[in-house]
Amino acid sequence: MSDTTPPYFQRHIFFCLNERANGEACCAQHGAQQAFEHCKAQVKALGLAGPGKVRVNKAGCLDRCAAGPVAVVYPEGVWYSYVDTSDIDEIVTSHLRDGQVVERLRTPPELGR
Ligand code: FES
Repeated sequence: MSDTTPPYFQRHIFFCLNERANGEACCAQHGAQQAFEHCKAQVKALGLAGPGKVRVNKAGCLDRCAAGPVAVVYPEGVWYSYVDTSDIDEIVTSHLRDGQVVERLRTPPELGR
């Protein structure tokens, strides 16, 4: 049986905002909160936010800490390791708006926890 109902959101991006108090590596140590807030603001500024469009969500540990800071975009299931807000801008305009994966920011497949 096929489901032709359009998805509630066209694309969903989840940012790991996990913070560890014990000194182990975590995305929060690498500007994840700032990146999340920047992404949310950019998506809104470009008119991409809302039902039928894009949703930017916080997440806990996504279990790929060695590649952090990370974010993942669905439905494509594409993982990104970003460095700064210009990387986030590129993910927003290229992938979230235009559907083009930003190859240079893709998380290396071998990097996990
Ligand atoms: S702390 Fe970010 S993926 Fe685990």
